[in-house]
Amino acid sequence: MVAQFLADNNTVIICGRRPEVLSEAQKTHPTLITHPCDLSSPQEREALYQWLASNHSDLEVLVNNAGIQNWMHIAEDDFMTRAQQEIQTNIEAPLHLTKLLLQLPAITIIMNVTSGLSFMPLAKVGVYSATKAFMHSFTLSLRHMLRDRHIRVIEVIPPALNTDLGGKGLHDAAPPVQDFIHAIFLQIAEGKDELTWGFSEKMHQATPAEIKATFDKMNG
Ligand SMILES: NC(=O)c1ccc[n+]([C@@H]2O[C@H](COP(=O)([O-])OP(=O)(O)OC[C@H]3O[C@@H](n4cnc5c(N)ncnc54)[C@H](OP(=O)(O)O)[C@@H]3O)[C@@H](O)[C@H]2O)c1
Repeated sequence: MVAQFLADNNTVIICGRRPEVLSEAQKTHPTLITHPCDLSSPQEREALYQWLASNHSDLEVLVNNAGIQNWMHIAEDDFMTRAQQEIQTNIEAPLHLTKLLLQLPAITIIMNVTSGLSFMPLAKVGVYSATKAFMHSFTLSLRHMLRDRHIRVIEVIPPALNTDLGGKGLHDAAPPVQDFIHAIFLQIAEGKDELTWGFSEKMHQATPAEIKATFDKMNG
């Protein structure tokens, strides 16, 4: 997504917890601006906002992309701790960042990254799936709330893609991210606000019977 935004002549700022990953990205894209931040912390989110307001108050687009996925069963001892981490990162962070960054005068687009699992949970990542369902629901309401301010609210709905989500190797068999990014930037140019591809397109359009059949197949 960074590469595509830069190719379209945008200034891009990214954040993440690992400085070495940020500096690697900066080496690949020399004009990229990076800022270390743990978005699961309310204090760090406030500090990020203050830094943006002081240094990049002309920011136009917020992409709520950071997410974690925990494979776990409710019978496990650390279930609640790991569930809370997912809720902080996947729900509290995008809500808080949106609230904070809406104070910047130039904000015109908010992009929330949800998932095909927003529509059809995978029980092995049950809390993760529920956080994405929450963000899908809230994104619909946010679009409605921001209509009068003419702020475009876009939902990015990936299917499984080959990233490190959930841990290295778990998504190796999934399609490459670039194919998804290519497809969704065409959809953005067409004016679409719910960007789907492959499995997520199917789930987005599925009937309740199709969702139930897919749930049984994926969780069987
Ligand atoms: N890959 C898929 O199959 C898939 C499918 C549907 C939706 N998605 C969604 O796509 C988004 C991106 O995930 P990905 O697939 O690219 O997974 P990934 O390879 O694990 O990347 C997750 C990114 O989020 C950042 N992040 C996580 N927690 C953070 C925190 N507390 N503070 C700041 N940054 C944080 C990570 O950076 P640091 O670790 O350095 O902090 C990393 O850059 C997520 O919202 C995910 O739910 C992915």
